[in-house]
Amino acid sequence: MSIAVIETIAELRTVTADARSAARRVALVPTMGALHDGHLALVRRAREVADVVIVSIFVNPLQFGPSEDLDRYPRTLPDDLARLEDLGVEAVFAPSALEIYPDGPAGTRVSAGPVGALFEGRSRPGHFDGVLTVVSKLLNIAQPHVVLFGQKDAQQVFLVSRMIADLNFPVGVEVVPIVRESDGLALSSRNRFLDAREKVAALRLSVALEAAESSADRGLDAVLAAAQSVLMGESLVELDYLSVVHPATFLPVDDTHQGRALVLVAARVGTTRLIDNMLIFLQSNRS
Ligand code: PAJ
Repeated sequence: MSIAVIETIAELRTVTADARSAARRVALVPTMGALHDGHLALVRRAREVADVVIVSIFVNPLQFGPSEDLDRYPRTLPDDLARLEDLGVEAVFAPSALEIYPDGPAGTRVSAGPVGALFEGRSRPGHFDGVLTVVSKLLNIAQPHVVLFGQKDAQQVFLVSRMIADLNFPVGVEVVPIVRESDGLALSSRNRFLDAREKVAALRLSVALEAAESSADRGLDAVLAAAQSVLMGESLVELDYLSVVHPATFLPVDDTHQGRALVLVAARVGTTRLIDNMLIFLQSNRS
């Protein structure tokens, strides 16, 4: 059986309304396509927590800055559909930009607030407003019981979860752990842009996070120093930020913080921007 590809909001609304009235739980997995095993982990988890799985594939222009890679973002719909075929996905929602933004970029936007201007938002102004706007629209269109996101994009998870709470969207959020290659590289649609040398260099991100984790019992300064020394040793890695944040606020912790903390890293490797993160258990180095 071939997978249903839905291009209009009206048709998707009918599919999910029918499912809800048949008392079937609906899950939405929002993606921008170019699907890899990280995305598929979200789809598999969605199958476990819901009866009907909808995957959206939409390269959202609103979350790309003017100098960003919207045009070169990989678009691989036939391959994506083939990968989803065997996973029990009910439908793929693949609308045009005109279907989602009939008035272009001039319409209403959801603001991510101050945390939206940090880290990824600092390098990519307006990015999270674009993400929250499209996620809001997708939630209102599909009205799923549960929506799934990957921990790979930790700041996105934080901001989307907060938006869902703040704006009272009636939907549960399920977060799926980061899927990595066997060498540690976090899977990303952008990894395909890395040449062989850059791919080796890109490994430094996950190695730096491992080094951070190994130093967590020696406090914040040791964590930052350990990660930094791994990143500095590779000339192809141009560090954007390395930071340790509180999972509940997404603000940097100080050296009195004890307990769960998220180490964030972003770097340019060649022309490709990569991000990664790891949850650690930090000991204070102040007694
Ligand atoms: P995209 O980059 O296509 O990612 C879709 C989902 O897959 C996100 O929730 C992301 O965190 C998750 N994902 C990507 N790589 C992963 C990995 N290695 N392990 C686990 N999960 C991974 O994120 C977006 O699209 C967009 O911003 C979107 C939410 C669709 C809004 O446009």
